[in-house]
Amino acid sequence: MSRPSPGLAAAAGLALAAVLALSACATESDPEAGMEAEPATRLSVSREAFGTLPDGRQVDVFTLRNGSGIVVRVIDYGGIVLSITAPDRDGNAGDVVLGYDNLDGYLAATPYFGAIIGRYGNRIGGARFTLDGATYELAANNGPNHLHGGEVGFDKVLWNGEIVDTDAGAGVRFTYTSPAGEEGYPGNLEVTVDYMLNDDNELVIDYRATSGAPTPINLTHHSYFNLAGGGDVLGHELQINADRYTPVDETLIPTGELAAVAGTPFDFTEPTPIGARIDADDEQLRRGGGYDHNFVLQRGDDGASITPDGSVSAMLLAARVTEPASGRVLEVETSEPGLQFYSGNFLDGTITGKRGEVYEHRSGFCLEPQHFPDSPNQALFPSTILRPGEVYRSRTIYRFAVQG
Ligand code: BGC
Repeated sequence: MSRPSPGLAAAAGLALAAVLALSACATESDPEAGMEAEPATRLSVSREAFGTLPDGRQVDVFTLRNGSGIVVRVIDYGGIVLSITAPDRDGNAGDVVLGYDNLDGYLAATPYFGAIIGRYGNRIGGARFTLDGATYELAANNGPNHLHGGEVGFDKVLWNGEIVDTDAGAGVRFTYTSPAGEEGYPGNLEVTVDYMLNDDNELVIDYRATSGAPTPINLTHHSYFNLAGGGDVLGHELQINADRYTPVDETLIPTGELAAVAGTPFDFTEPTPIGARIDADDEQLRRGGGYDHNFVLQRGDDGASITPDGSVSAMLLAARVTEPASGRVLEVETSEPGLQFYSGNFLDGTITGKRGEVYEHRSGFCLEPQHFPDSPNQALFPSTILRPGEVYRSRTIYRFAVQG
C-alpha cells in the first residue's frame, strides 16, 4: 500500500466538497451535528463551557470546523474528542466516533473514548520497568499490567487549552505538566498536544514533550470510530500497511516476536472486512477477544519519536478504512512505527452513549498509532525512553473522505 497520490486525494476532496454543496439542508437539519445555520465557509474554532468537574474547575469544549462541513468537538478534560461529524457519500452529516453527550458520562466510566493517552499508551507488563538501574512500580490497572498511563492517566486530567487559528488550520493547543512521580513515572514532563483541522479534511494531532529526568513516553489517541454512524463495525473494510505484528501472551503483553501476518487473520495488507476472520480459530484472536494487537508498520526508517532536535519522523499511510454503505473513508497517517488495532471487543452493551445509543460488542474500532506495547521491558523494540535534552515528537493524521 502506498501513499495516495495528490491527484487521488484532491479528487476525494472535490467529491466531498461537491457532496456537501448539494446537501446543505441535510447538514443544517441535524441537531446532533452541532452545525450552524450557515455552513462554515472557512476554517474556524470556537470555545464554550461544557461542564464542571467535581472540584469546581470548568471544562470547555472547542469546536473546530472546516469549509467542507467537517466538525470536530474536543474538550480540555482528557483532550477528549467528543464528536467528529463527517458527510457520507450523499452528503448526510453523521457523527463517526463513540462517546457521551455530557461530561458526567466521561467522569463516571469510559473505555478511553476519544482521549489523549499517556504517559504510556497501551500496556507495560507486570506494571513495572527498570530504567538506568532503578525499578519503577506503576499501577496495575489491567490485571497484572499497567494500561494507558494508570489510574489517572492523561485521559483524566484537565489540560490547559488555547485556540490556534491560522490559515492552514483551526484548532486547539493543549498543554499539561505531569509532575515527577505521577502514576509512578519519573521526571517532570511538559506535554503539548495540538489538534488541528484543515481544509484537506484532516484532523492533525501533534505531540511534543520534554522531561526533567529519563522516562518512558508513548502518547496516542483513542477515538472509537464507526463510519456507519451506528451498528457494529464488522463490515468496515480495513487495510493496514503492516506485514508483521506483535503477538501477545494471555495478558496481552507482546511476546517479543515480530510475526508475519501472511496466511493469518492479521493480514490486512489488502482491504478486508474487519469481521471476515475475527472469529477464526486462532490463539491470538482468542487472547484478544478479537483484534487487540500492535501492527508493525512497513516503514523505511524506525519511526523514532525521540530526537535531539524535535524533528518528526516521516509520515506513512498506516491504515485505510472504508465503510461500504455510507461511502465514508478514514485514512490514518503517522510518524510512529506501530499501530494498535482494537476492534472494540470489550464493548458489551453496558454503555449507553450519545443520543441514547447502546454500544454493543464491536460497535467501534480504534486505530492507535504508537510505539510498541511494553517497550520499556523489551530491549529489541524501538526505544520509548525520553531523556533530558531530548524532544519527544509524534504526529498522526486522521483524514476523512468519501468514495462512491
Ligand atoms: C487496548 C485494549 C483496551 C482498550 C481500553 C485499547 O487501546 O488495546 O486492550 O481494552 O484500549 O478501552
